[in-house]
Order: sequence, then structure tokens, then C-alpha cells
Amino acid sequence: MFTNDIEILKNVDMNLPDKIYIFDTTLRDGEQTPGVALTTDEKIQIAQKLNNLGVDKIEVGFPASSHGEIESAKRISEMDLDSTLVGLARSLEKDFDAVLDADLEYVHTFIGTSQLHRDYKLKMDKEKIIETSVSAVEYAKDHGLTVEFSAEDATRTERDFLFEVFTEVVSAGADFIDVPDTVGILTPVLTRELITDIKNNFTAPISVHFHNDFGLATANTLTAIECGANQAHVTINGLGERTGNCSLEELVMTLKSAYGIDLGLDTTRLYSLSNLVGRLTGIKMPVNKPIVGDNAFAHESGIHVHGILNNSSTYEPISPEMVGHSRRIVLGKHTGANAVKSKLKENHIDLNDDQFQKVFDEIKSLGDSGKCVTDDDLIAIAITELSSARETPIVIKGLSISMGANVSPTATVKLEIDGEEKETASTGVGPIDAALNAIRQLVQGTMDIELEEYNLEAITGGTDALAEVFVISSDSHGNTSTGRSTSQDIVMASILAVLDSMNKLLLIQRAK
Ligand code: KIV
Ligand code: ZN
Repeated sequence: MFTNDIEILKNVDMNLPDKIYIFDTTLRDGEQTPGVALTTDEKIQIAQKLNNLGVDKIEVGFPASSHGEIESAKRISEMDLDSTLVGLARSLEKDFDAVLDADLEYVHTFIGTSQLHRDYKLKMDKEKIIETSVSAVEYAKDHGLTVEFSAEDATRTERDFLFEVFTEVVSAGADFIDVPDTVGILTPVLTRELITDIKNNFTAPISVHFHNDFGLATANTLTAIECGANQAHVTINGLGERTGNCSLEELVMTLKSAYGIDLGLDTTRLYSLSNLVGRLTGIKMPVNKPIVGDNAFAHESGIHVHGILNNSSTYEPISPEMVGHSRRIVLGKHTGANAVKSKLKENHIDLNDDQFQKVFDEIKSLGDSGKCVTDDDLIAIAITELSSARETPIVIKGLSISMGANVSPTATVKLEIDGEEKETASTGVGPIDAALNAIRQLVQGTMDIELEEYNLEAITGGTDALAEVFVISSDSHGNTSTGRSTSQDIVMASILAVLDSMNKLLLIQRAK
């Protein structure tokens, strides 16, 4: 818990419930994310991980919607998980039968209650809505199900009618009443008013199901809990219809760190679960997604990195370990000397002041030219600096290109590799390709190289323009390095840039 909050919270009027239930609907509302469809095996994998995380309830699907949904729910029921498994059902007998067929004991049933849903979707008047809801709850209870009743579009339903519906379904035996903000129109202050009113009028446990159309689902869910809501519907990565639902990881970590409320979940599993869900649904999180995004614990600016290196709490509200994530120091145009020094130390590279300054300047200039500097780039730059007094392993000793109409260009290249001269000729689609093919043949046995990126830029104008070539190469050991060269001859600039990156790769391989 953040230290200042302990004192502040003592003065805030809150009505926190004794127990907060986490109802995860990644496999139901989350699967309704446009473009997402999970197989039974994928649902099983996610259900197992949600169970290991420790959520109270897992909504496994909508059994009446397909045979596959019944099959997935059945298979998950067979896993004998600790979390309670839930199936969604409209207020229709056949939907409850499907939930029962899927071997589930808890149903989440719903019916639209707002005028929009009554008039345009269900074509039912208020009386019919009440009658249908009550018969649905009675049918489910008669069949031994625990019943959670959702008044779909509750937040756009007339308050007196919403209360009438809740009163009737509670009398019919509903175990939980759920308040869906179906199109995410609540704000924290509206949530406070609504949930407080429901809490003052009902003793049944209250659940909330808030959508994120205005980016407020987590804030609204938190407010509902402050006002006494007993249960939150959430999804991993905030998946769900349109812009999604309240994100599990955001809610759980806010409760834990800002309110000191530990729900007993193993939060160190959050990052890997988020990645699993991202991979299986194909919905990758943006880098700036709170808690689980790639940048959640990444730092670049000199001032921040300096603080982080002295005490990570300076620029991190919680530690990455709490959610199974990791800290990342990124090098770029905002990088300060401390970050570079710390990375060099991590990689056991010692530079004197002069060498360090050159490496630092090179990183800044790469950053200024819009390049992202990876750890491998830093190592390559530092090793090149360290080895600049030594001989470079591969040196060009000769080059001739022959080309003409209707013949493939041929390059003859002579290299000195570790002191031994070698020469070969090769053809290619153009002179640069021919020269690079010849180089590849000559270094075979010494190293293998893949050209990942090739950029050619004319620095000056005219036919004698200076050309700058920037390349990124990689080897089969997973190392990458950059290479750069400037010449009036494009072929020569290209060859020297590739050799520059090859030499760095060789030095990295030999230093490791
Ligand atoms: O958003 C919603 O209203 C729902 C219902 C099924 C509860 O998902
Ligand atoms: Zn929903």
C-alpha cells in the first residue's frame, strides 16, 4: 500500500464489503471481443491459469450458443477446479437446460431492462419483463442452480423499474443481483450514486459488470466496490465487447496497492496470463497498457533511470516482480550516462572515460536519428570501441564489379579474414547483391549472417552525392548488430556497412 494513502483513506467515507468476489468473464464476454474465438483446448488452458491465479468465479461461456460451448464448459467442469464455474443464459428455459447439460451449477442469467432493450430488442413491456425474469429465476432455482441475475443495460433503465425487477428476482430466489453498465456510460460519481442507492435498498449481494467505452470501467468498478458492491466482473487484458470490460489486472493491483486489500490472488501470475490470453486471442496489448504492457516497467529518460537505479520506487508505483513482469532500461535519445554505465556493467564491459564518451555519443546520435538502441547494439558499439585499437577481423582488400546489358552483374571480392586473404566472384540481381553474395561465400565457415535491414540515403545532392548506408545484421546465435558507412560509391558504402556489422558480430561472438 502506498504510504500516504493509509492516513488519507482513514478520512474517506467508504463502505467496503467484507469480501470482494472476482468474477472473471474472459472466456465469455472476453471471447465476445470482435474477432476472437477460442477453441476448447484454448479455453481449458486459460481456465486452468485463472484457477491458479485464484479467481472466485470463471464464466466459461454461453452454453446455449453452440455445441462447442457446451463441450468446452463440460471439459472445464471435469477439471475439478477450485473456482466456481458459471454459464451464461438468457431468461429462457432452453438456455438453463444447456447450462445444466454443460454440468455447471451456477448460472448468470440476463434480460434487457432499459426502454431501448424493451422496445427495440425484446418487444416486451415492463410487466412481461418482470414475468419473464421471475419465471427464469424460478426455473433455474428449481433445477438446483445458483442464480446471478443481470438487468442488462441497468444503467440506462428507469431507477424505479430497475428496483422493481431486482425486488421480484430476489423474491424468486436470485442469489446475486448484477448491475451491467452495458454500454459503459457510467462515471465514478454516477456509479457512487447508483450503487449506494442499490445498497441502501437491497440486502442481496451486488455484482457489477462495467464496460469500458469511455475508458472508465476500472475506475467505475473500484467506485462500486467502495460503495459496497460485493463482486466485480472482470476480464484479463480488459477484453470484451467493443472496447472491453474492467481489466482484472488493473482492478486487482489497484485494490492491493492503493487500498491494501489483498484478495488472495497470486498476482505474480498476471503478466504470463496476460501474455497467454494475448497470444490465444490474437489481441496483443499496447505497450502502454497498465500493469502488463511492455512499457509498464520500462524507463528511458536519464532522470528517471538515475532514480530507478538508486531506488526503483522513485519511478515505479509497484515492483514488476509483484505481477511477474520485469524492469527494462531502454537506450535512446533521452538516455543518461547512468543507464549506459549500468548496462555496460551488467555485461562486464569496462571502458575508460574517453571510450565511454564515444559510446555514449554514438547511442545519442542513433537515438537522434530515430533508431531504437537495443542491448545488443550497445554491446556491439562498446566492443567496437574497445577493439578499435586492435585489428578488425574482416578487412576488404579488393573489389571489382563487371556489368552490362543482358548479363548478370558479377562482383569479385577479396577479403582478409583473420589475416588470411581470400577471393571469390559471385553474381547477383544487382551489383550490391553480387558483392554481398561474394562476401557471404568468403566468410562461410567463419560466420553466417542475415541482413535484417538495409537503408541507403543520399546525404548530399548530385551524381557524386555522398551515400550513407545503415544496416542491421544478425547471426544464428541471436546476436544483432548495426553497421554504417559513407562513401560516394554506393556499392562500396554498402559493402563497408555490411563488413562493419559483420566485424561487430564476430567480436560479440568471440567476447561471449
Ligand atoms: O454487458 C452486458 O450487459 C452483458 C450481459 C450479458 C450481462 O454482458
Ligand atoms: Zn458485457
